[in-house]
Amino acid sequence: MTENGILHPERVLTLDTMNPNVKRVEYAVRGPIVQRAAQIEKELKEGVKKPFTEVIRANIGDCHAMGQRPITFLRQVLALCTYPELLEDNKFPEDAKSRARRILQACGGGSIGSYSMSQGIELIRQDVARYIERRDGIPSNPDNIFLSAGASDGISTMLKILVSGEGSTRTGVMISIPQYPLYSAALADLGAVQINYYLDEANNWGMDVSELRRALAEAKKHCAPRALCVINPGNPTGQVQSRKCIEEVIRFAAEENLFLMADEVYQDNVYAEGCKFHSFKKVLFEMGPKYSEKVELASFHSTSKCYMGECGFRGGYMELINLDPSVKAQLIKMVSVRLCPPVAGQALLDIVMNPPQPEEPSYPTYKKERTAVLDDLAEKAKMTEEIFNKVPGISCNPVQGAMYAFPRIELPQKAIEAAKEKGQVPDMFYCMRLLEEKGICLVPGSGFGQREGTFHFRMTILPPTEKLKVVLEKVKEFHLDFTAQYS
Ligand SMILES: Cc1ncc(COP(=O)(O)O)c(C=O)c1O
Repeated sequence: MTENGILHPERVLTLDTMNPNVKRVEYAVRGPIVQRAAQIEKELKEGVKKPFTEVIRANIGDCHAMGQRPITFLRQVLALCTYPELLEDNKFPEDAKSRARRILQACGGGSIGSYSMSQGIELIRQDVARYIERRDGIPSNPDNIFLSAGASDGISTMLKILVSGEGSTRTGVMISIPQYPLYSAALADLGAVQINYYLDEANNWGMDVSELRRALAEAKKHCAPRALCVINPGNPTGQVQSRKCIEEVIRFAAEENLFLMADEVYQDNVYAEGCKFHSFKKVLFEMGPKYSEKVELASFHSTSKCYMGECGFRGGYMELINLDPSVKAQLIKMVSVRLCPPVAGQALLDIVMNPPQPEEPSYPTYKKERTAVLDDLAEKAKMTEEIFNKVPGISCNPVQGAMYAFPRIELPQKAIEAAKEKGQVPDMFYCMRLLEEKGICLVPGSGFGQREGTFHFRMTILPPTEKLKVVLEKVKEFHLDFTAQYS
């Protein structure tokens, strides 16, 4: 075979011989639209004329990339941990220095450049446990905490441990539709069976136990369902689950012997009046020993979202409840193989778990910065919903939490046919046209899953308010033009 004029002998690794599961993996959030967006940005730099001057990326939940400022205290402590000579510098406040000294003392050789224990630095696991106790009012054991490279790492690891069997005994995992595509990607990679349960769009993307029962009964015919994944607050759908709903889900998991995975990375991102974050762990324990001694639960958190947005540091943890001790030993073995989660990410997580207290010098600034980020997101969540709902053909549920709107779009039949001719699914066709005409990069609903015959897109609410207004205005203009063109 020749390639760029060089003759290659027959390769060992080809599309035909490679791992077929890897070929099945899809990840829309960084898919073809995003690749085209990067190309367009290059063309703009080269002077190619477009109907816009910049591409606005509202496709991915990357807060800092969209202009959110880092929280000063987090960066001060990280700077001190990274370059301890700064501990002598009087520009840094004493509380930041004492946090940094404490973290460095827990690191091998006093350096965050050393490996840590595979489960994560013990001191930091203790701080995570104390944070969970303050949050839930329920005891937490540091031995049940595993630090991870973002929540993704913990989620993939737990799914890996859960999957076994062949044919009709192959593990099935229930995931919401729409879903965050990490779940479908990880399940495809593991060759596990994906069991879809649909969220109820007409009911604010609520989770309904009768739908869980339907999905489970169908799946039992061809696989062995073992786990139920829940994202709360939801991505891409932005709903915040009520306490009652969480109780019903826990009861269902207990009755059906399902391992529960609660993805709670947006736990501080709750905006809508009357909504409150309830952790699965807290509700489980408040339901009494019948449930708290039985239901196996893994819950996940991360430094990537909320007011921190520090996704590049890859900090996160999972807490495991009622895990069989011999499985836990296997898990410890597994995480040992990858040595340890990034230690800078662990240090960052420690500061998030152990932020400045009211009597400390950094508290006023920390509080002001944290509140500003969350208030700003709350305002943008409301604005996004309101503007979308004024556009004929777009309907958007309230963005109660997380960082995304997932509006439904009505597409004319002629547009659906035009998409078919291009070999694209209709909402991909729509989003691609939006990118080409307005320079706005969104993700088609099909990348997250949606009910047959419905179309959506996901947009982050992360652009700064003024830019977000421009984005919403442009989407509106585009939607009206697109609909008129194909009507
Ligand atoms: C629901 C959900 N879970 C997990 C993740 C992964 O986050 P990270 O691995 O950065 O912690 C994300 C990222 O967007 C998410 O939206």
